[in-house]
Amino acid sequence: MNWSLRLQERVWGLAPWDAGRITDEWFRAHFEYAADVVQHWMGNVLDLPTARLLNFGCGDGITDLALVLRHGATAIHGVDIRREYAKLPRIAREQLGMSRIPAALTFETITPSAPLAGKRPLVDGIMSWSTFEHVQRDQLAPIFHDLYACLRPGGYFFIQIEPLFYSPYGSHLRRYDDVPWHHLLATEEELWSVIQAHDGPIDAAETDFGFADFGVDGYKKFVFNEYRALNRLTADELVAITTGAGFKLVRQERRSLDMPIPVALRGKYPDDWLLNNEIFLLLSK
Ligand SMILES: C[S@@+](CC[C@H](N)C(=O)[O-])C[C@H]1O[C@@H](n2cnc3c(N)ncnc32)[C@H](O)[C@@H]1O
Repeated sequence: MNWSLRLQERVWGLAPWDAGRITDEWFRAHFEYAADVVQHWMGNVLDLPTARLLNFGCGDGITDLALVLRHGATAIHGVDIRREYAKLPRIAREQLGMSRIPAALTFETITPSAPLAGKRPLVDGIMSWSTFEHVQRDQLAPIFHDLYACLRPGGYFFIQIEPLFYSPYGSHLRRYDDVPWHHLLATEEELWSVIQAHDGPIDAAETDFGFADFGVDGYKKFVFNEYRALNRLTADELVAITTGAGFKLVRQERRSLDMPIPVALRGKYPDDWLLNNEIFLLLSK
C-alpha cells in the first residue's frame, strides 16, 4: 500500500488539501492544537523535516497527518492496539478534501506490550498523546524499556497526558458528567447511571471518529469501559517510571486547575494529585 502511495506522490506531489474545509471539532483539536504542541516541544530539539518519528498510541493519525502537512515531518510511523488509523484516508478526504494521505505516514497495529525494538531502524523521536493513562499498569515499565531501545542515542521522547486520573475530570467522562471529581466521590454504579441517563449532544471536540461506529449507547459503554481501564497514573509516577527505564528528564510542564477541593476529598489524596490535570514531559536518551 505504502509503495503505491510513494509512487503516486513522486509523480503527482502531495495531494492538495484545504484546512478551510474542516468542520469536525475533534479533527480540528488534533490537526491544529495537538500538532502545534508536539511541534512546540519536539521541533525545538529535533529537525522534524529530517527526523524519523514514532507515534505510540497514534489513534486515528490526525495529529501525524498535521505534523506532515503543517510542520514538514517526512517520516512518522504510528502504532496502536486499535485500527482507528484505517479511517484516516476517509477523514482526510472529508475534512481537508485530500484525495490520498502522504506517503510519509505509515501505521501498524500492535499487540499490547509486544516489543517493537529491533523490528525497524532506530528513531530520532517518539511522541505519545493522551495514551499512557490508558496502558495497563503492569505493561508500563516493559513498554518504556522497549521504547528506550527503539530510540537512537541523543533522540527525544515527548509525552502528553490530559486529564490525569485524580484531577477534577480525570475520569475522561466529562462529555457525560460535568461534576468535578465525581469519579472519586460516587460509586461505579452511580457514575454509570449518570452516563446512561445522559440525553442530547456531547461535546464535539471530545467525540472521536469511533462514535459513528458505536452509536449512542455503544459509545457510552465504550467510554465507560475506557474509564474503568484507566491506570490512575500520577505525574510523579510517570516521571519515575520513564526515568527508571533509562530516559533522561529534559523538561516538564505540569498544569493544574484552580478549583476548590471538596471536603470529602481533602486529605484523602494529596492536593497536587487532585489539581494537576496535565503533564507535558520531554525525555531524552
Ligand atoms: C485517547 S486515545 C489517544 C489517541 C491519539 N493519540 C489521539 O490523540 O487521538 C488512546 C490510544 O491509546 C491506545 N493504546 C492503549 N493502550 C495501548 C498500548 N498498550 N499500546 C499502544 N497503544 C495503546 C488506544 O488504542 C488509543 O488509540
